[in-house]
Amino acid sequence: MLTIAVSKGRIYDEALPLLAEADIIPIDDPKTSRKLILKTNHADIQLIIIRATDVPTFVEYGAADIGIAGKDVLIEHDSDNLYEPIDLNIACCKLMTAAPTNAPDISGRVRVATKYVKTAERYFASKGIQAKIIKLYGAMELAPLVGLADYIVDVVDTGNTLRANGLEPRELIMNISSRLVVNKASMKMKHQIIQPLLDQFEKTLAAR
Ligand code: ATP
Ligand code: PRP
Ligand code: MG
Repeated sequence: MLTIAVSKGRIYDEALPLLAEADIIPIDDPKTSRKLILKTNHADIQLIIIRATDVPTFVEYGAADIGIAGKDVLIEHDSDNLYEPIDLNIACCKLMTAAPTNAPDISGRVRVATKYVKTAERYFASKGIQAKIIKLYGAMELAPLVGLADYIVDVVDTGNTLRANGLEPRELIMNISSRLVVNKASMKMKHQIIQPLLDQFEKTLAAR
C-alpha cells in the first residue's frame, strides 16, 4: 500500500490535477465525505486527509509514504528526516511580517504573534531584533488590532486579509510553495512505485 498525505482545502484542490496526471483519482471527495482515508482508482494507493501542519509528522514517522506540504509548514517542522524532492509550485504565497498600516518601527523588544514560532524566532534573531513570540493557532491578523502584538508573521497572497484588518506587509521572510515530501525508508523500500510517480510529477510540472 502507498499512502499519500494531503490537507483539505487549497492543497487538496491544487494537488488533484497533479495526481490525476499520474493517474491517481480519489474515489471519495473530502468536501462531501467525512472519511479520513480516501480510496483511489488503485487498490494499493490511498490518500489520507489531515491538517496541513500534521503532514510532515505523518510522513516522517512513515504513517504516510508521501505528503504534500507548504514550505512554511516544513521549515517550521524543521526535520532532517524528510526527503523533499519536488517543488510542486502550488499554493504559492509569501511568508511575511506585517504591522498596522503606517505604524512606526518599534525600537527595543517587539511582540510578534504567529503560528510559525520557530521560524519567527529565527527570523528576528537573524535581524538582531529582540522578539517575544506569542503562539497563536489562527486569526493572527487580529493580534495587533487588540494590543496583543506589534507584528505578525503569516502567509500573504493577495494581501486582502491584511488590508481588511488595517495591516500592511512589511518584510518578506520567504517565498512559499508546496513541496512533495517522501519518507526516507519508503523511498528505498517502495522505490518501484514511488520513483515513477516522482517522474510523472516532474513531467507534468515541466509542461506547465
Ligand atoms: P489549518 O486550516 O489546518 O489551520 P492551514 O490554514 O495552514 O491549516 P491551508 O490554509 O489549506 O491550511 O494552507 C495550506 C498551505 O497553503 C499553507 O501551509 C501555505 O503553504 C499555503 N497557503 C496558506 N494560505 C494561502 C493563501 N492565502 N494563498 C496561497 N497559499 C496559501
Ligand atoms: C490564509 C492566511 C491569511 C490569508 C492570506 O488564510 O492565514 O489569513 O490566507 O491570503 P490573502 O493575502 O490572499 O488574503 P486562509 O484563507 O487559509 O484562512 P484560515 O485562517 O482558515 O487558514
Ligand atoms: Mg489557512
